[in-house]
Amino acid sequence: MAKLVIEGRTRLSGEYYLSGSKNSSLSTMVAAALSDDTVILDNIPANTDVLTLARILQDLGVDVRRLGENTYEISGREISVPIAPYDLVRRMRGSFYVMGLLLAKVGRAEVPFPGGDAIGARGIDLHLQGFRAMGADIRIEHGYVKARADRLVGTSIYVGRSSVGVTVNLMLAACLAEGVTTLENAAREPEIVDLAICLNTMGANIRGAGTSTIKIEGVPQLGGGTHEIIPDRIEAGTVIAATLATGGEVVIENCVPEHLRTPILKFMEAGAEIEESQNRIYVKGPKRPKSFSIETLPYPGFPTDLQPQMAVVAGLADGVTSIRETIFESRFGYADELRRMGVSIDVDRDIALIRGTDRLSGAPVETPKDIRGGVALVLAGIAADGITEVYGIEQVDRGYERLEEKLNKLGARITRVDER
Ligand code: EPU
Repeated sequence: MAKLVIEGRTRLSGEYYLSGSKNSSLSTMVAAALSDDTVILDNIPANTDVLTLARILQDLGVDVRRLGENTYEISGREISVPIAPYDLVRRMRGSFYVMGLLLAKVGRAEVPFPGGDAIGARGIDLHLQGFRAMGADIRIEHGYVKARADRLVGTSIYVGRSSVGVTVNLMLAACLAEGVTTLENAAREPEIVDLAICLNTMGANIRGAGTSTIKIEGVPQLGGGTHEIIPDRIEAGTVIAATLATGGEVVIENCVPEHLRTPILKFMEAGAEIEESQNRIYVKGPKRPKSFSIETLPYPGFPTDLQPQMAVVAGLADGVTSIRETIFESRFGYADELRRMGVSIDVDRDIALIRGTDRLSGAPVETPKDIRGGVALVLAGIAADGITEVYGIEQVDRGYERLEEKLNKLGARITRVDER
């Protein structure tokens, strides 16, 4: 158990260099294992979800080598065990991508129900529907999804809820399937485009990624290649929210402003001054943020993964902010903890109404089982008066690389305390 102890009321300033996208890394690492050749992935962030996925892949017999802090070499030549380990899969949602990998490459998969953030029901029905449509025979037994298919067959599939995970899993499965798979209502997130670029570099034939119709023509096998993961747009938005909450001035380096089109409009509505150049965003926070309204939506709408961080900005804003969460049923798990810090927040089903105060008050708080809810508490601690202790920080480590070190470079005063 570890906690962060934060001395608050600091104004963030300086340059911040983004890591690679967590969610892109998870899907491309699994994609790399589809090949018998060697795939090199660069700009993979050193967070614990990535490390867990690497261990899951190794358990299946995938050769995963870490060549440097952020570089991995992966080959699926030796995949031998089609059974994914419960102990690791239960820790994260992205681990379910091994279902697409195993079905496509081995023709058999036994994968436990995935875990991850407790932010809603997070079913796997739509994944299974897709695999069944491609000819897989699927049973659920003893907490495992057991699937078989001699060779998956391409078909037309409507992706329910425009799900990111379903789009990824079916793209992985379709690459080695017989014939053409068409995904309608596919997710359009930049991470999907990144995955398609990686797979195409390996010899796949994917068209339309980034639009709601993706066509994948199966090939007999995939080859090797090198791919660099895109910068993490959610980390960028997290730092921009921190800058807004602290009235700071920060330049975010190595980012793709285009991936943050809608959030940037909302940051400006909250009073941020923003200037963009090709791979950099300059942000200056106002003396006090203004209230705003947000509705989370699939890309290119406002991302649910930035919703908790913006609740902290709302907690300091002049006026009442409304936040509507439409992707997950319960992503306000941080609300009780923010209340401890003096935020007035009323949650009614999918809507939170937040009345801002000009001072947050540092307090001991516990991270909910949600990476973004946890990081929101860290931001609140940086902005608040006095000391904030954020317990259960392992939750946040799942999605952020060297979090306190990077924020301390901007002037935050955060110390990690190992409680063991
Ligand atoms: N859904 C179902 N059935 C399914 C699949 C999804 O009902 O079979 C529902 C989900 O419960 C949710 C909605 O569909 O209500 C959309 O979920 P989606 O499948 O798009 O989410 P995901 O793939 O599980 C990924 C990210 C999340 C991010 C969401 C939305 C990864 C590993 N995870 O999750 O990231 O919030 O897309 O953009 O890529 C995070 O990074 O903190 C995080 C939670």
